Amino acid sequence: MANKKKGETPDWKEDFPIDQEEATHVSRREFAKFLGLFSGALALGNGAIVLRSIAFPEKELEGQHFICNTQDVAIGEMTQFEIAGTKTIPYILIHLEDGEWRAFEQKCTHLACAVRYRADLDQIECPCHKGYFDARTGVVIQGPPPRPLPQLEVVVEEDKVYVKSLHKEKPYNL
Ligand code: FES
Repeated sequence: MANKKKGETPDWKEDFPIDQEEATHVSRREFAKFLGLFSGALALGNGAIVLRSIAFPEKELEGQHFICNTQDVAIGEMTQFEIAGTKTIPYILIHLEDGEWRAFEQKCTHLACAVRYRADLDQIECPCHKGYFDARTGVVIQGPPPRPLPQLEVVVEEDKVYVKSLHKEKPYNL
């Protein structure tokens, strides 16, 4: 095989001629096709989620659920928990400074960041956009959250902490 001089077209380019500009150019039609396919895939994904939620609706919380023993969460502390078989929402159980207990969904009502109890403020804080909730009622005190944190009722029986759904007509555990 004869050696090519500098500047000459290599053999492979003669065998497989590729126009670099043509190869990297994306036509308007191809771009529109890509957008169409991408939008279609998104629509299918959303449709699948809607169908799944219709076919397998998430169960509302029913009955009373054991969470922990009273000595497991010190005063001024919180713990996170989930309840198997119900909506897969993490919840927080708070042992308030005055010894009372409260439980809320941990998802902020603004953009679903995880909230946490701040014993120094006696409030629940959402660190994402500085939203603050009342630690007794879940009511918004400050910031962008549009709604109170959904709350569970806490029942303490013989040093054991349980939660159950709050009555709809009594939305806050004051
Ligand atoms: S997500 Fe909580 S304040 Fe924005």
